[in-house]
Amino acid sequence: MDIVVLAGGLSTERDVSFVTGNNVAGALRQKGHRVILLDVFMGYSDKPEDLTGIFEHSEEASVSVAGISEKAPDLEAVKKSRKDQSSSFFGPNVIELCRMADIVFMALHGENGEDGRIQAAFDLYGIQYTGTGYLSSALAMDKALSKRLFAANNIPTPAGISMEKETCQWDFDKTGLLLPCVVKPCCGGSSIGVSIVQTKEEYRRALEEAFRWEERLIVESYIKGREFSVGVIDFKALPVIEIAPLEGFYDYKNKYAAGSTVETCPADLPWAIAKKMQHYAEEAARALNLETYARMDFLLDSQEKLYCLEANTLPGMTPMSLLPQEAQAAGMDFGELCEEIIRISKKKYA
Ligand SMILES: Nc1ncnc2c1ncn2[C@@H]1O[C@H](COP(=O)(O)OP(=O)(O)O)[C@@H](O)[C@H]1O
Ligand SMILES: [Mg+2]
Repeated sequence: MDIVVLAGGLSTERDVSFVTGNNVAGALRQKGHRVILLDVFMGYSDKPEDLTGIFEHSEEASVSVAGISEKAPDLEAVKKSRKDQSSSFFGPNVIELCRMADIVFMALHGENGEDGRIQAAFDLYGIQYTGTGYLSSALAMDKALSKRLFAANNIPTPAGISMEKETCQWDFDKTGLLLPCVVKPCCGGSSIGVSIVQTKEEYRRALEEAFRWEERLIVESYIKGREFSVGVIDFKALPVIEIAPLEGFYDYKNKYAAGSTVETCPADLPWAIAKKMQHYAEEAARALNLETYARMDFLLDSQEKLYCLEANTLPGMTPMSLLPQEAQAAGMDFGELCEEIIRISKKKYA
């Protein structure tokens, strides 16, 4: 197949997305596909006159990717560096190249990519893409909305409230919540802007930090316990993975700095608890109608109570990422997983 792997973009997870994209592109090439790795924001402007036959030299037409730093990228600098300075989010020739492909593999994470807007645009252009559709992407992206849908479908999630910048409650005593709590941007990812709050002073600082990223945030009860994640492919759960950072919580650094987190798959859990978590993961996929694939994050407290934190519709896809490790535990290697995602995504268009 001729495949565009779409990465980059303008979210705080821009760098993470390139690592996903690079790995997916490599794996699909090994399977014999012709793959262009494309930066959705920067586009392709090397030889834009004639795109005919571009898949014949797909590797030269691909962006080259550096490693991932421990800090989130400087998006203003990225915007300034784009040659055409157009107001369009799509870089030069992105739509053209995506229309030429048999399918677009979505290697984007975060805003514009995971939030359903590109999916909606692609539906209108008749471009096929991997992953779930625009509405379910948008619902899963918004933690306030997805938590409401979890609760309505008997999927346990930490008690919490959402707040807008304009009408925000800065006085913790008036929130009706207890300390410790967690403050996070409503639609963020990779733990960017997430704070665990122990005191009322920390609460105010946590609000300021989260509002740096977004106009809306959620404040929820802090759950002390073990952390897990469960991938779901075509509404069926994969084995559970445990995530245990050596220090602190599962923040940006612990997510991407090698060796900072111990990941165990299948997780060392009593059978009944693992089954229950898989059941909630499948129920969460159904509640949000997450077709194709997704990955749900969970916490387990000392009373053995489970909480679903969120659904990720375009989870990290390097061989060391959580979902690929889970697929591996189920006997599917990284290349097979990439092709399986394409196969299931194609079902949307049957
Ligand atoms: N209610 C909570 N209690 C304890 N830890 C939490 C809670 N919510 C989030 N965390 C920690 O913050 C991390 C990021 O939160 P999450 O809701 O998964 O957002 P995202 O991964 O989209 O940034 C989690 O992986 C977990 O380590
Ligand atoms: Mg998460």
